[in-house]
Amino acid sequence: MTHILVTGGTGNIGMYAVAEFARRGHDVTVLDQTSEAPMLRAIAPDAEIVAGDILDVDLLSRIVKDRRISHILHLAAFLGPESVTFPIKAMDVNCRGTANIFDVALAMNVERVTWSSSIAALGTLPEYDGTPVNEDYRIAPLTTYGASKYYGELMTPIYRQRGLDATCVRAAFAFGLGKLSGSWGANYNRIIYNTAVGRPSVFPSWAKTGVQMIYNKDQAKFCVEATLAPSGEHWLFNTPTERAFSEDDVITILRDIVPDCDIVRDSTPPFGSAFPPNVDGSRARHAIGYQPDYTVKAAIAEMVEYYRQNPDQGI
Ligand SMILES: NC(=O)c1ccc[n+]([C@@H]2O[C@H](COP(=O)([O-])OP(=O)(O)OC[C@H]3O[C@@H](n4cnc5c(N)ncnc54)[C@H](O)[C@@H]3O)[C@@H](O)[C@H]2O)c1
Repeated sequence: MTHILVTGGTGNIGMYAVAEFARRGHDVTVLDQTSEAPMLRAIAPDAEIVAGDILDVDLLSRIVKDRRISHILHLAAFLGPESVTFPIKAMDVNCRGTANIFDVALAMNVERVTWSSSIAALGTLPEYDGTPVNEDYRIAPLTTYGASKYYGELMTPIYRQRGLDATCVRAAFAFGLGKLSGSWGANYNRIIYNTAVGRPSVFPSWAKTGVQMIYNKDQAKFCVEATLAPSGEHWLFNTPTERAFSEDDVITILRDIVPDCDIVRDSTPPFGSAFPPNVDGSRARHAIGYQPDYTVKAAIAEMVEYYRQNPDQGI
């Protein structure tokens, strides 16, 4: 059995990763800015939650040393529209914070660090046509958030050369039961919540080529599998997804599930500040054997059902 540290473990992806590690019999400690995490406590009651900051190196070192942490899944990040408004904070948390994790893990002989980059670490050229790109594709990101994740991708092989087994998962556009504001995915959650409880919604305009959506439970499971997988030839993995979804695709799904929903499309693009390319997840499919459990439609249907049963979750 291993003792795993999950940074950002109360977040939308993190809480399901914590629950999945616990389900597999691992001890889990969460380091997050907040220990107020009712959903996490409900799905992973045995996980320890430490409230603190990944910029606090002494705290990080103490947690890793005292708990004899063997693996770290590093998900803490400053993201969403705020990371565009406050770029210095994005650099601080996402660049320095990730370097802190690498440094402490290397110093304390942690067996494996897996961290989450993003499809936002990749840019696209104006003529980009939506063809999925593999892990070798490299066009510089167009946002501060993307640049902060790109920094981590640059640092990962450097720390690997220094002896740290660091791997990186590029998360797709993750939505799902959890927060209803604070990130782009959480904004989708809010629309699904509104639809479930009979409130009107305005659906944002998104990329002309669609966006690769994934349920947060599936993204979390992929992070867990990448953390526990034996070391192999590769350290960087795109997330395998069902496909890219346009905003009209998502509205059609919502109308299938809730036929009388009151939803209109915002005609002002773009919703995100820059469009990432679609990525090819075959490396992870082959090397890690990972495949999402949910279709996007099944995930949205599960959310609608949950919010109908728990309408107070969105207030
Ligand atoms: N959700 C997506 O669509 C998406 C897409 C690509 C990449 N990612 C990446 O996946 C990871 C998890 O994202 P999420 O959607 O769960 O986001 P989230 O905002 O729900 O979770 C992030 C967590 O990090 C914590 N945190 C932030 N700064 C911290 C700090 N300085 N110290 C300690 N904790 C801190 C927050 O409190 C939060 O609980 C992030 O690294 C994010 O960049 C997410």
